[in-house]
Amino acid sequence: MGKKALKQFNEAVKFLKKQYKETPTIGIVLGSGLGDFVNEIAIEKEVSYEEIPHFPVSTVEGHKGKLIFGKLSGKTVVAMAGRFHFYEGYKAQDIVFPIRVMKLLGVEYLLLSNAAGGVNPSYKVGDLMIIKDHVSLFTPNPLIGKNLPEFGPRFPDMSEPYKKHLIEKAKAIATAHNFDVKVGVYLAVTGPTFETRAEYKLIEVLGADVVGMSTVQESIVANHAGMQVFAMSVVTDEGIREDENIITHEEVLEAAKKAEPKLATIFKELVAAI
Ligand code: HPA
Repeated sequence: MGKKALKQFNEAVKFLKKQYKETPTIGIVLGSGLGDFVNEIAIEKEVSYEEIPHFPVSTVEGHKGKLIFGKLSGKTVVAMAGRFHFYEGYKAQDIVFPIRVMKLLGVEYLLLSNAAGGVNPSYKVGDLMIIKDHVSLFTPNPLIGKNLPEFGPRFPDMSEPYKKHLIEKAKAIATAHNFDVKVGVYLAVTGPTFETRAEYKLIEVLGADVVGMSTVQESIVANHAGMQVFAMSVVTDEGIREDENIITHEEVLEAAKKAEPKLATIFKELVAAI
């Protein structure tokens, strides 16, 4: 990292500013099976990840791999259709490259979504959970290495990684629509294996309500850079079940797709309220 990295960010930003003249203030990252949300955006410009200097390229099925610029609820937004995961083999710094590019483009609010496994025994497949806090002790911290003071401090505070005022707004939106939305803790793992029964139990003991393979690294760099973060999980499987419990990627995608309309409503109205 260091000076060279900053140059790379600037090259990516310069390229994107040529492609799209307006300043997005809200960034959105769509999780597995949740990519259809882009249909809610009045798209003004799409840029494939391959075209953007220094951008990593997405490899996972169900992740499209483009940056989408346009209007949502009257706001100028930029959305990542397809995110990068540690299990794909990227370095933590590469996973968060797009988030820092968003910051340099002018993004102040970051909305993240993901598919996650439920470990809170009361959670059911299809439940939505607003993330109020996270545990990222099992995945590499993307800020390891030379600090880039242009983005933020060496030792960032993480006492409110998901902004309370955004959580309150989202809860109010959910209530207005009669959506039953949980509020809980997300624990991140590297994947790509789903957890063993013993691991799901351990994760619950550690204070988490859901477990997933994304989000925390993006949240960390966004917090580092002073962005306001909001995140939601769709519960796509129940890790803690005692009976036969084989978890597949297909099942995860299907459950996410089913829950997506509710999540889309919350994101859309939250963007309007920001
Ligand atoms: N574990 C980890 N990541 C996940 C899961 C899970 O059960 N479901 C969806 N993403």
